[in-house]
Amino acid sequence: MIEPRPKAIYPPIIAVFNHKGGVAKTTTSGNLATCLAAFGYRVVLADLDAQGNATGSFGILPLPPIGAMDVITGRVRLEDALIPTQFPGLSLLPATTQLRTAEMELAAHERSHQALREAFASQNIGSHAHIVIIDCPPSLGTITGNALSAAAAVLIPARADPYSHEGLVNTWHEIKRLRQGANASLTVAGILLTMTGEDAAGDDVARSMRAEFGDQVYGVSIESDAKVTEAAQLGVPVAVLDPDGGAGHNYLQATAELILRLRRHARHDISTLAEPLSMVDAQNTLRDWRARLPGLQRRANDAPAWTAVQAANPDSDEDPGPSPLNAPPPPPRAGFGWGAMVLAVILGAMLGAMTVFLYNSIAGH
Ligand SMILES: Nc1ncnc2c1ncn2[C@@H]1O[C@H](COP(=O)(O)OP(=O)(O)OP(=O)(O)O)[C@@H](O)[C@H]1O
Ligand SMILES: [Mg+2]
Repeated sequence: MIEPRPKAIYPPIIAVFNHKGGVAKTTTSGNLATCLAAFGYRVVLADLDAQGNATGSFGILPLPPIGAMDVITGRVRLEDALIPTQFPGLSLLPATTQLRTAEMELAAHERSHQALREAFASQNIGSHAHIVIIDCPPSLGTITGNALSAAAAVLIPARADPYSHEGLVNTWHEIKRLRQGANASLTVAGILLTMTGEDAAGDDVARSMRAEFGDQVYGVSIESDAKVTEAAQLGVPVAVLDPDGGAGHNYLQATAELILRLRRHARHDISTLAEPLSMVDAQNTLRDWRARLPGLQRRANDAPAWTAVQAANPDSDEDPGPSPLNAPPPPPRAGFGWGAMVLAVILGAMLGAMTVFLYNSIAGH
């Protein structure tokens, strides 16, 4: 684990936001936060979406009684609202049902967009985290305003589909608006393409986004992977469920890229992020966390609903291809495969022919 920062230092706060819904903001927040912890940082994942999906994605359901909104309004101390996760270094500032009414409550607040920033500063968020990740709702209300006012940078997940451009443009406008008002130094921590590789049209959109936004787009993209749904149903991040392939491994690579971008950033408070552990160490940590998941084997054997997803996507267990880390392939699956079945049919036919031949020889036909 990396040494704690001196208390006075305000950690980099990264808001994961896109004006558009369903682009993998929550999936990205949870996986980046987990991978950052695997790289050795102390991380707070703040769930500011009333849907509570980031909280639920760590198996915390129903939503707890105390959470983000209590901290924003100063009713509860940050340390009393934080929930440690099963992954060392990662704590959750959970969503609560109050977030649904938060817009109105915050609107009455004198400096309504600054409440989260002030709460984090006064409650010394730096003593709890080297870095904070905020999962934002898809709307542009007071809650998102608070997240973007508190943040040093915005990471924008964008789905490579023909409708994503408008969402990106709106998001860019919002960032500009914040820069002219509540948060003059807000920067962009890049655009991460999500759910890629689904079809040729998506590949075209991904290419044109790279052409339009250049270096802002991450080199690695997050492929569409049925294991993401499986992980969500098991209440674990896909980076822990499958650190060696598909979206899980993409998220580990995207986290390495995020860390690199932050450490090279022109803003001093962002670039002071300590040096992370190595990629190999982070991946081994994720494998270790996977091996320790107590409920995983039991729930997998219970043939949960996600087996239906796999049946609909028979390719989802294919070898993920060469990894830059030369990670070992996933263990072979037990079971009676097609190869064995074909062999059995051939052997059966040969046995039948031999029996007929012997019978004919013995019977003297
Ligand atoms: N790489 C992926 N492959 C397959 N499915 C994915 C992937 N990433 C996300 N999903 C699925 O897409 C859906 C939307 O993801 P997610 O909830 O993270 O999006 P969101 O942007 O947070 O949505 P909202 O705007 O409602 O908050 C979920 O069902 C999630 O499991
Ligand atoms: Mg979400």
